[in-house]
Formats: sequence, structure tokens, C-alpha cells
Amino acid sequence: MQKRLFIKTYGCQMNVYDSARMADLVAPLGYAPSDTPAGADLVILNTCHIREKAAEKVFSELGGIRRLKEAKAKRGERMLIAVAGCVAQAEGDEIVRRAPFVDMVFGPQAYHRLPELLARAAREGGGVLDTSFPAEPKFDHLPAGGTAPGVTAFLSVQEGCDKFCTFCVVPYTRGAEFSRPAAQVIAEGERLVAGGAREITLLGQNINAYHGAGTDGREWGLADLLRALARIPRLDRLRYTTSHPRDMDEPLIAAHRDIEQLMPFLHLPVQSGSDRVLAAMNRRHRADDYRRTVERLRRARADLALSSDFIVGFPGESELDFRATLDLVSEIGFAQAFSFKYSARPGTPAAAEQQVPEAAKGARLAELQALLQRQQRAFNAAAVGTTMPVLFERPGRHDGQVVGRSPYLQAVHADAAPALIGQIANVRIAAAGANSLAGALNEAGAAA
Ligand code: SAH
Ligand code: SF4
Ligand code: F3S
Repeated sequence: MQKRLFIKTYGCQMNVYDSARMADLVAPLGYAPSDTPAGADLVILNTCHIREKAAEKVFSELGGIRRLKEAKAKRGERMLIAVAGCVAQAEGDEIVRRAPFVDMVFGPQAYHRLPELLARAAREGGGVLDTSFPAEPKFDHLPAGGTAPGVTAFLSVQEGCDKFCTFCVVPYTRGAEFSRPAAQVIAEGERLVAGGAREITLLGQNINAYHGAGTDGREWGLADLLRALARIPRLDRLRYTTSHPRDMDEPLIAAHRDIEQLMPFLHLPVQSGSDRVLAAMNRRHRADDYRRTVERLRRARADLALSSDFIVGFPGESELDFRATLDLVSEIGFAQAFSFKYSARPGTPAAAEQQVPEAAKGARLAELQALLQRQQRAFNAAAVGTTMPVLFERPGRHDGQVVGRSPYLQAVHADAAPALIGQIANVRIAAAGANSLAGALNEAGAAA
């Protein structure tokens, strides 16, 4: 009997990857993906704990799912509910207590046991909790293959974090740093490409700290791994995220110069432009170190564009500290960025400090976002009149339109046949908006 699986994913790309693996794990048990929770036999919420708002969403979502479960029970059918991800890891006990209708709660390092947890939940009638950090890596227990990848795919290569920035929950929810052996990563990369992926984004909470077992008996850094993956035929584009400025070493910078498939767009979170705040955040670098790293990267790859993350209103951040962030943004120039108000997370050191008033946080965020928006618009506008290789991914909203991505991850709309999906073609950019570009295929047609 075919059963229906609904997964809702919150948070980062790592969660997107994990959700796909969970679907792979239960597919052999007869669960097929569904895009609505109504009537589903298994509902998984794959949650995020990074900011307070993200975590709150889970409990409100659970209210709705509970009603669907009750409706199903009235028909004499059963719905199993699982809470996975970082809220499960951080607040597992509280979920079990506050939401007894939830059948399974498990963290990011335990989800490979999902088939076993499902069997237990079915048998015991709920309340199954697994927030352990197993000694054997889950990657050794995930099924190979699974659902066909899209034109672009994620590949998790590194997980966890040992950096302990004072605002961040990730070291607690994902656990210690772990790097997958290169052979395992390459095999998964080859499978993705065989399944149709043309672009792979390598994922890790702290990806440039990658230090996995190489295929030659040495320990490999991220640069070695990228070089090996670049040898996979038909893998046209490589990206990686998220990096820490401190781990942007010489070999990795050289990889940006040498590896043609490595796209000239790098997400390099800086969080703040103030040395005082950076020190309080335990980022272990100064604003000038960031400036120098960007300089070195741009010397290696002149067309490199940058994206970043910022936190405003970190405890102790003064108006002057905030100005230093604005100065850094003005100097560097970002193609794109994410910015957040500091959110106190239980159990992290910064949560215990004197907090910046909400109004100041709001005003600073608005000012920073206005500046970042201007930079993003200018970056997009500069593409008009140029020709860019675009990897087409999906049909557009209008008939006869396809949508793809530029090397800088900008969405690009063009009029072309759906046959172009999965290919790279040169597009002459005619118009730019805040979040996307539009253009026409070059006469020459397909570029690669
Ligand atoms: N590993 C990445 C960050 C992962 S979290 C890195 O080191 O850069 C993604 C982003 O969320 C962070 O870069 C930070 O800007 C933001 N963030 C993390 N904790 C936060 C908090 N407590 N309040 C506000 N923003 C936070
Ligand atoms: Fe969090 Fe990133 Fe800092 Fe690790 S390096 S603690 S994931 S912000
Ligand atoms: Fe959120 Fe966990 Fe990712 S807290 S950002 S889902 S690592």
C-alpha cells in the first residue's frame, strides 16, 4: 500500500539536504512524497533553532498538524508526526511534554535511524525521542541513490561546528565538526551527475574547515576536495557554503583562481565590522583581516562577487560599532546579503549579556538593509548589456519562458524552449530587478 509523506523544511540548506535524505530513507517503506500534510501518513517537520522566530514557528505549525491528525483518526486512520532538526535537538524534552501527539522527536545526527524510530513509534504509540550524537557517522548509514536530483543539487560534506561564536546554537544542535571522507563525497557527486545534476553546492556549517580523509591517504582540505570533484565529467558548476573568514586559507583562495567550474560567487559571513563586537562574538578575526581576505580573493579571481551575513544589535553594540559595520559594507560592496537582528538563544553566552533595546536593533537593521539593497540593485543593474552563461533549471511562470541561474546565483528569465533545462546557454541581459534578471538567448545558442 502506498503511504504519503509530507516534509516541511525550515532553516538552512543543510536541512534541505537532510529532508531529501529522510525521504530516501522511508521510500523503501512505501512512503511517497506529498505536497500537503492533509491526509498524510507521516508528517515530518525539519526544524531550525537559529533565531527565536524560527523556533516559535514549530509550535504554531504543530497546532495545525494536530488537527489534521485528529481528523484522520476520526476516519479510523493513523498519522505519525515527527519533529526533526535543530529544535528537536535543542528542545526535544519540551516538545515531548508540550506536544504529546508528536510521535517521534530526533536530532540532525540521529535521522538515519528513522526506519527504526518509525517502527518503534508504530509499536509503542508515540513519544519516541532520539537526540543522541551517535559515535558512528550517520553518513555511513544513509542509502545511496534515492530520488533523482534536479539540475542543481546539494551535497553535504562537513557538519557541525567547533567555533562556538557566542550568539550561535549550531555547535549545540549539530554537534562537533565532522568531515566526510573524500571517497564518499566523490561517489555521491558522481551519482548526482549521473542522475542529471549539472551543478553541485557542497554544504557544511563550517565548510572551509573541511579536513576529511583523502583518497591518497593524506588528510584533504576543501581545496583538495574541490579539485577532485572538478574532474567529474559533465559537472559544470561547483559552489560551497558556508565559510568562516578564519578558514579562508591560501590553497582555497588558489582554488578560486584555478578551478574553472568553481563559480565566482562566495558567501563569506562577517557578522560585524567592529573589532570590539567581533571579539565579543568570539569570531577570532578583525575587520581588517576580512578586508585582506577579500583582497586576496579578488586578486585570485577578479570577477568574484561576495555575499555575507550580518547581525545587528549584538549585546554591547554601540552606535559607533554599528557605523563600523556600515563602513565595511560600503568598502567591500556585496552582491547579496542576509542581515538579522540579534536574537538571544538560550544557553549561548551572549544571551546572558546586557541586551540592546529592540528599537535600536530595528533602526539599525533598516539602515543596513537599505544599504545592502542598494548594493544588490547596483550589482544586478551592472549585468544589463553583458552576456552571461546561464544554467537553466525550470520552466518560468509564462509559457515559453525558462528560468536559470547566472554564475552569481541571480535568477535569469529568458524566452526559450524547455529543452534548454539542464543546459548552460549564453544570455544577453536586457533588464534587472531587485531579485532577478531577464534577457534573450544569444544567437550562438548553447554555450556548453
Ligand atoms: N556557519 C555560518 C553561520 C550559520 S547560521 C557562519 O559561521 O557564518 C547563519 C547566520 O544566522 C549567521 O551567519 C548569523 O548571521 C545568523 N545568526 C546565527 N545566530 C544568530 C542569532 N542568535 N541571532 C541573530 N542571527 C543569528
Ligand atoms: Fe555558528 Fe558559524 Fe559561529 Fe559555528 S562558525 S558557531 S555555525 S556562526
Ligand atoms: Fe537552523 Fe540548524 Fe541550520 S539551527 S540554520 S537548521 S544548522
